Amino acid sequence: MKKLSYILLLTLCSTLIFSCESEYKRDPGKIYAPDMTYSRAYDYYNTPDSINAAGGTFNKLPVKNTIAREQSIPTHISEFDTTAAKALKNPYDLYAKDLKEGNRLYMIHCGICHGAKLDGNGPLYASGKYVAMPANLKGPAYINMPEGKMYHAIMYGKNAMGAYSSQLDAKQRWQVLAYIRSQQIEGGSTSSSLITPGEAPKMEEAPAKESHDEADHGDDANHAHEGDDDHKAEAHN
Ligand code: HEC
Repeated sequence: MKKLSYILLLTLCSTLIFSCESEYKRDPGKIYAPDMTYSRAYDYYNTPDSINAAGGTFNKLPVKNTIAREQSIPTHISEFDTTAAKALKNPYDLYAKDLKEGNRLYMIHCGICHGAKLDGNGPLYASGKYVAMPANLKGPAYINMPEGKMYHAIMYGKNAMGAYSSQLDAKQRWQVLAYIRSQQIEGGSTSSSLITPGEAPKMEEAPAKESHDEADHGDDANHAHEGDDDHKAEAHN
């Protein structure tokens, strides 16, 4: 009987202990390494003001009126100025490789509706599940459409067609248009091509030469180290 009460007491105690431990512990207790307890990193989503107040420097915004590398100057066309929108011209030098990229992007973003043949009979429309007939880009209404107008259709969408400005940056839009135009010209369009004739200018040979130089420097550095070691050895002697 005594044994049984011991067992009961033991079970009760252990239950108590375990149930205590399973509670959430919110107090960190003694803090012996505050760096680890409280993060010293600036939280990314903090406001610039709170980061500056905490002694950090927040410099996330680009300098006013500057443009990120490899970005072109944005076109500023005032609202409802359809004449200027239509007259917009391609600002990039596009070459055969851009045509290829344009084809690739077209097949990713547009082909599903406008079709691989640009006839507006893409698989989505052909399936009967899409509300409107996508433009037949080779049809008489579109074959000579000003590229500025097409550009803005990509940028803002049109009726049932969504906008593609978040999927395609400015250059990619022109690459797609260069591809569309090339196909339209094949189909009898009298519009001019967006492709610059000839080869794309080659990158200068400089980087290769530089890396060669670097290798030379590397050798020099090794020699210098050897020299240092010698000196050290001498010093020890
Ligand atoms: C989800 C289907 C769909 C996709 C994807 C799509 N379009 Fe369209 N597109 C349409 C439809 C529908 C129209 C006809 C809109 C109208 O005139 O009412 C249209 C119209 C157009 C026009 C004619 C615009 C005008 O002013 O009449 C162009 C140019 C065009 N699309 C280009 C593209 C390009 C380039 C892409 C890929 C970046 C693309 N579309 C992707 C459905 C689509």
